[in-house]
Amino acid sequence: MTDSFVPSPEDRFTFGLWTVGWQGIDVFGGPVRPPLDPALAVEELAALGAAGVTFHDDDVAPFGSTVAERARHLAPFRAALERTGLRVPMITTNLFAHPVFRDGGFTNNDRDVRRFALRKVADNLDLAAELGATVFVAWGGREGAESGGAKDVRAALDRYKEALDVLCTYIVERGYDLRIALEPKPNEPRGDILLPTIGHALAFIDELEHAELVGLNPEVGHEEMASLNVAHGLAQVLWHGKLFHVDLNGQTGPRYDQDLRFGAGNARGAFWVVDVLEQGGYDGPRHFDFKPPRTEDMEGVWASAAACMRNYLVLQAKVRAFRADPDVQEALRAARVDQLALATLADDETLDAVRNEAFDPDEAGRRGMAFEQLDQLALEHLYGIRG
Ligand code: GCO
Ligand code: MN
Ligand code: MN
Repeated sequence: MTDSFVPSPEDRFTFGLWTVGWQGIDVFGGPVRPPLDPALAVEELAALGAAGVTFHDDDVAPFGSTVAERARHLAPFRAALERTGLRVPMITTNLFAHPVFRDGGFTNNDRDVRRFALRKVADNLDLAAELGATVFVAWGGREGAESGGAKDVRAALDRYKEALDVLCTYIVERGYDLRIALEPKPNEPRGDILLPTIGHALAFIDELEHAELVGLNPEVGHEEMASLNVAHGLAQVLWHGKLFHVDLNGQTGPRYDQDLRFGAGNARGAFWVVDVLEQGGYDGPRHFDFKPPRTEDMEGVWASAAACMRNYLVLQAKVRAFRADPDVQEALRAARVDQLALATLADDETLDAVRNEAFDPDEAGRRGMAFEQLDQLALEHLYGIRG
C-alpha cells in the first residue's frame, strides 16, 4: 500500500529484541516459533523502518556467559548494527528469568542474590555505555510477593533505594551518559509488584540520592492493567520532567498483561497517548514492548511489528488533524480548556481578592462544560470521518 504511514528512522521507532523474538512460550504451552537470531532481527527491523533495537543482557548472550563468550555472541549483532545503522538507545537487565531471581533481584530476601543482581546490572551498565545507550530500563517484575508476611515492604524499599543509589553512584563515577528509567507494573509475574504504578514510582524517586538520574519508562498496558488512564499518567510524568522512555503496546482493560501491538486494544486510549507524547515535548524513542500473538508464524510477527509503527503514524496524523481542526479549536474554547492555563490568582493578588469577589455560584452552576461536543470531535477524527 502506498500512503504516508511509512516509518523511517526519523520517527524514532525502536523494538525490544524480546518482542519480535518471543517464541510464544506461555504458562499453557511451549514455543511455537524458532529462536530468532538477534542479527536477523536487526536486519528485519531496519528493513521495516525502525530506528533502533533494545535488549536484555541475556537476549544476546545467554545467562552465565563469560566475558569472551559474550563478546562472541555480540559480534554478529554489532556487525548487523553497523550494516543497518540501527542504534541501541536503551538496554535493560534480565533479573527475572533465572530461578535465582524467583524472589526478585534488588529486593530478594536473600542478601547473596541481591549482591549477584547488582553485579549483573553493573556489567550491563558497562555494555550500555559501550554501545552508546543513554537509557537503562529497570523493570522489577520479580520484585514483589504473593503473600503478606513474606515481604517486609519497607525493608524491601530500603534495599530498592540502596540498589539504585549504588548503581547511580557507579554511573557518575564512571562518567557514563546514562539515566535509569524505572518501569512500573501492578502484577505479573508476581502477585503484587513493588512500585506498581507511575505514582508509586515517582514518589519513590524523590527518596533517592541521585533522583536526577532516575526517571520512568511507563508502559501503556501496565497502567491499563490497573484501570488507570495512561495519557494522564504520561502527562504527569512529563510534568515532573521524568519521562525518560516509554513502552508502547495495547491492552484491553484490567486482565493479564496482553502486550498487544500498539493501537490494538484500547484505541481511544491510544489516541490520547499519542496526543500527549506529541504535544508534551517527549523527544525520546517510541519503543514498542509487545508480543506478537502465539497464533502467528514469523510472517505474522513482522506484520505485527510493522503494524505497531503504522498505527502510531496513523494516530499521529489523527491527533495532528484534531489539533488543527478549527471546529476543535472552537470546542476547546467553549470547554474553557484555555482558562486552565491561567493562574487562578493574578501575580499581585492574595487570597483576600477571591474572598471579597462577587460571584453567583447558582448562575455559574447552570453552565455546562461542553465536553461532550469536544470529545465527539475527537472520536470523529479517530473514526476517520474528519480530517
Ligand atoms: C513485561 C515488561 C518487560 C520489560 C522489559 C524491559 O511486562 O514483561 O514490560 O517487557 O519492559 O523486561 O525491562
Ligand atoms: Mn509489559
Ligand atoms: Mn515493558
